[in-house]
Order: sequence, then structure tokens, then C-alpha cells
Amino acid sequence: MATGTQAKGGAAEATGADIGVYGLGTMGSALALNLADSGFTVAVSNREAEWIAPFLDEAGPLAERLIGAEQLEDFVAAIARPRSILFMIPSGAPVDAMIEAIKPLLDEGDTLIDGGNADFHDTRRRSAALEGTGLHFVGMGVSGGEAGARNGPSMMVGGSDHSWEQFKPMAEAIAAQFDGSPCVAHLGPDGAGHFVKTVHNGIEYADMQMIAEVYGLLRDAGGQGAVEIGNLFAEWQKGPLSSYLIEVSAAALLSVDTQTGTPMVDVIRDQAGQKGTGRWTLIEALKMGQSANTIEAAVGARGWSSEKAVREMAEPLLPEGVQDAPLPEADDLEMALLAGRIIGHAQGFRILSAASEEFEWSLDMARISEIWRAGCIIRSALLDELADAFRGELPGGHLILAPAMRKRLEDSIPALRRVVAAGALLGVALPALSAALAWYDSMRRARGTANMIQAQRDFFGAHGFERTEGEGKFHGTWNPLP
Ligand code: 6PG
Repeated sequence: MATGTQAKGGAAEATGADIGVYGLGTMGSALALNLADSGFTVAVSNREAEWIAPFLDEAGPLAERLIGAEQLEDFVAAIARPRSILFMIPSGAPVDAMIEAIKPLLDEGDTLIDGGNADFHDTRRRSAALEGTGLHFVGMGVSGGEAGARNGPSMMVGGSDHSWEQFKPMAEAIAAQFDGSPCVAHLGPDGAGHFVKTVHNGIEYADMQMIAEVYGLLRDAGGQGAVEIGNLFAEWQKGPLSSYLIEVSAAALLSVDTQTGTPMVDVIRDQAGQKGTGRWTLIEALKMGQSANTIEAAVGARGWSSEKAVREMAEPLLPEGVQDAPLPEADDLEMALLAGRIIGHAQGFRILSAASEEFEWSLDMARISEIWRAGCIIRSALLDELADAFRGELPGGHLILAPAMRKRLEDSIPALRRVVAAGALLGVALPALSAALAWYDSMRRARGTANMIQAQRDFFGAHGFERTEGEGKFHGTWNPLP
């Protein structure tokens, strides 16, 4: 392609594109096509300019509404003012470099939108750096993978009201719809959108891990094969567990490797990767005095999974110490997973509440639940129930205390207990499900065990404690050690 703007479609050239998309990787291409499909004119560009022509060729009739530009100047010039420019590039240093490169070409009122999985601290820093320049910066979480980006993602938008006003019609047009409501919202200023997306991913980690744990129990203690487990998961898709992740897991278990003719999952190494959002969720939670232990378990389990060599060494050396116990019934497994899912989500929302207070974002939890009902990876029947729960009676703002959730837990906690107990006896690790139960049992007891911790702290370090009655700090009258 020749240097400069390659315009396809005269109208687009005359009036300027509605938006620019920079970065034609999987997600950027899909979003650009989605925007074009929704009737918007889109200027597109990419660091590797040679990607642009094939992208336009493959766009078919949609190329009418796409303007390819090799040079950054031409890309910016092709967009109508005030501009909305969406970056779909790797997060981190490339985003800072892009901002620096494009800044001199922009005009007052223009908005840069980072649609990658960015650390919200970076988003806050970038927003602050542009403050007072007349330019705006939006951090936007996009969920749903390639298919979501092409056909309707869920989008969590931060940044200024000005930017949202500009971007809203396009965002609502391309977003997934749930009962006619678009799965996109302006959630708060600066890093709010990216933070909510990070926590979405944390919940995603916990949910995936719990599904994998149930798979592990059926495989290792039940001796069941991928097809049998896949069929069970497919059955659950018709009930309260109905969700994209159960659907994906069922379909994955029922897929066959063309090379060997065996189930696909049986030829995949048991080592899971991670890009960082799960870990960020935990780091931020811990900094705010929270502990989302289902998410911690999930992130930790991914870490253990990569220690394959250690596990191979340990297997013949470490005693099993397992005991006989019946494999839980399918109904118990289904209910245990539901309890775990409720608790995983409750923990995620607690982190969002803490961050909302800390950063003064006024996050609307009901709206967040609503925009997660379609398009995103954690979409599920439960999220619709959570949206209703957040809009209804909610003692102390705690999701697990909403009447509908209390009922769900009443029906599912006994099953969670049986499943966790079976896992312990049979020697099958259920880190996230066990964590969910431990958290539940901790939160439902008014009197915990931290009096013992305080006694220990005061004994060895004179850290002091509060008495059950009265105000002030005290020291104990401790017996001397023998
Ligand atoms: C989404 C996903 C996506 C994420 C992948 C992989 O909402 O579409 O969360 O953003 O990148 O799920 O994440 P990990 O590599 O960390 O598992």
C-alpha cells in the first residue's frame, strides 16, 4: 500500500471518521469491524503498516466504512473532531510511547481510549498527566475475547464525562445487549473502568479454578473421562450454573484432538499461564485490607501448576494419606460450584466497594452486575440475580446478606461442605472451593479467633489489645514460660 491515507468510501473521506482504532491485532481488528458493522466510519492504523492492507481486504463490504492510514499523521487527520481514538495495543510501555507520539497531532477535546488490560495505576497516572492539556484519557476494560469484540463485548469505561458523551453512542451500538440494555457503562473517572475489568478477571480466575477443581474430583477420584464430565457440565448449563464458562468447559471437554483422536483436554499439559490481572486483583485487595481468598487460591493454583517438575518428583515420594469416602453426587457438585461462584463474586464486589471508597469512584454495583450479564467471560445466570440483589434489600451493602443470596446459600452450602470434605478425604485438592467455604464460615461467625492472635502478639511483642468491654488499649497478665 502506498504511504498515506487510503480511503475507501467517499463519504467517510469528506466528513471524517467517527473514531480511530490503532492496533489491528485480534481485539483491535474485531472492534474496528464491529464499529464498521454498526454503521460507523473507522480510521484504522497499525505499528506494522503492512497489516493494514490485508485487514481492509478481508473486511469485505465493511471496507466501505474503513479508512486505512499508514502514517500516524494521516490516521489522526482522517478522524472527525473532537476525536475518539481507541488504542488496542499491548499494555504497559507501548501505551506510553503511543501517547507521546500522537499527542502533538491532537486538538483540544480529543480523547485517547486505552482498551487493553492495563494496570489501573497506569491509567490514573496517564489521566493525570493529560489533565489541563485539553486532551482526555479513558481507560476501558473490554471483555469477551475475539468473538465478543466482533459481535458484542462487555465494556467497562472510565474517564471524563466529556469523553463518555463522545464515545457513548458508538459504545452502546457495539456492546453486547442483555434484554435490550447495552452491556457498557461509564463507571467512574480515571482508572475506574480498568479497575473493574481487573476485578472481573479476578472473578474469572476463581470461577475457572472452581470448575477445574470439580473436573479434577471427577477425574482423579471418580475415574471419569472427559466426555462423561463434559456431558455433565452441558447438563448444568440448563440450570442455575448456566454461564459462558460452564458452556466453554463442556465444549472443551467434548472436543477431540484430530492428531490422536483422544479428548483435547487429555493432550494439554497441566500448566496454566497468566497475564497478570488476577494477581493485580489480589495485590490491590490486600493493599485495601481485603482478602479475596477464592481469587488467591486460583492465582496460586496457576503458580503451582507451572511447578510441573516438582510435582513429578513429589508424586512417588509423598505419602497419599487418603481415606475412603464416597464421590459426591452430581447434584452436590453442581450446588457446591454455585455456592463457590456466589462467594467468588461476593469477594470481587467487596474489592470493588473498597476501591470505590478509596478512590472516590461511586461505583454502581448493580450497573456493573448488569453490564456483566452478556458479552463478557464471566457472564452467567447468577449475574442477573446479583443485579436484582444489588437493587433490592442489601443489609450493610453485603451481597451475601441479600435475601435471594441467603436463600441460594442456604440451598448450596451443605453441598459445598460435603464436596470440600470429600476432596479432603480423597486427597483431591480443591483450593478455591475450600477457600470459599473457609471465608463463608469466617464471615458468618460474630465471634472469631483473633482474640487468640492478639494474645500471642501481646505475649511476645507487647503489641496491646482491646478488651471485649470498654475502650482503650491493654496488656495482658501473662504467665511466665516454664
Ligand atoms: C476477557 C478476558 C481477557 C483475558 C484472558 C486471559 O475478559 O475477555 O479476561 O481479558 O486476557 O482471559 O487472561 P489470563 O492470561 O490472565 O488468564
